[in-house]
Amino acid sequence: MLKTEILPATTGIPRAAQLLADGQLVAFPTETVYGLGADARNDHAVAGIFEAKSRPQFNPLIVHVHDLTAVEKIAEIPTAARALTVFWPSPLTLVLPRRVDSGLSDLVSAGLETVAIRIPEHPIARALLARFNGPIAAPSANPSGKISPTTADHVNEGLSGRIAAILDGGACEIGLESTIIGFTPKPTLLRAGGTPIEMIEKTLGQKLALPDNGNITAPGQLKSHYAPNAKLRLNAKKPENEAWLGFGADIHEAPSLNLSPSGNLREAAANLFAHLRKIDQIATNQSLNIAVAPIPMHGLGIAINDRLKRAAAPRNT
Ligand code: TXA
Ligand code: MG
Repeated sequence: MLKTEILPATTGIPRAAQLLADGQLVAFPTETVYGLGADARNDHAVAGIFEAKSRPQFNPLIVHVHDLTAVEKIAEIPTAARALTVFWPSPLTLVLPRRVDSGLSDLVSAGLETVAIRIPEHPIARALLARFNGPIAAPSANPSGKISPTTADHVNEGLSGRIAAILDGGACEIGLESTIIGFTPKPTLLRAGGTPIEMIEKTLGQKLALPDNGNITAPGQLKSHYAPNAKLRLNAKKPENEAWLGFGADIHEAPSLNLSPSGNLREAAANLFAHLRKIDQIATNQSLNIAVAPIPMHGLGIAINDRLKRAAAPRNT
């Protein structure tokens, strides 16, 4: 158990920024809800978010940055999206194509080629971003399945002992998550939220599209996730003329990568998306399928297994 530090809003900012730089988790206020922040470039820190929330799935997270220059470092901005940047800073999140040189953790966008970005308006969030001087990944700071927190006390009730610190900025004004817009390429409403849809449509001069299945509750789950070319065989004891994605102490006779030689689930989560891509390249080049070692079904192992199951599922489903 960690001893969660409660940091006062203004004077606590240098400490909060330092903890983030050290790869620790810090909850902070935004105008919508409290976010559970981690350095968005640090795989291990981002894996910690899923661990602290006990999230059973790796859905992509929102990356918070200070200004438009910072957005341009990590994403491309299509023309329609460019028009909406006039709303920033505000409770608006844009899902944009990730730059190849973004430097972001693969886990942040759950292996997708896009990244959700928002420039928050809350002065404490802005001061933290300025001081940290880097992108902060942050989902709502609640345990998975619980209601989003709008006070530091809510965060403390749910996550005390699981995160390094909470920056106490009082109650959040809006209390509702940000509106999320995607561009695929039509401007599409992925989640209704703190920025009114009418305002967005007026600025765009057109109606927003809805996702294909009309469901706007859990966008990350609907998008096609990164799927390997090679076939995946899960819970394998050993490779049978296959490339091998190992976990824990391992045999190395096949072309192989290991998610965590020491059997550490957080390390495995941090490596998951990059290793999947790499082993897929190796397997595809050698016309092999991929066998994956069993991953224990507890803690982060649940989300890892969920992701592997999707990667192994028949295509076009
Ligand atoms: O107001 C908010 O947006 C708060 C504060 C902390 O900023 N954050 C928040 O994050 O609500 P979270 O992780 O609870 O919700 C992020 C949503 C999820 O539904 C996720 O699936 C979607 O954004 N999302 C993230 N990246 C995506 C992507 N590349 N494509 C589609 N959906 C994405
Ligand atoms: Mg949430």
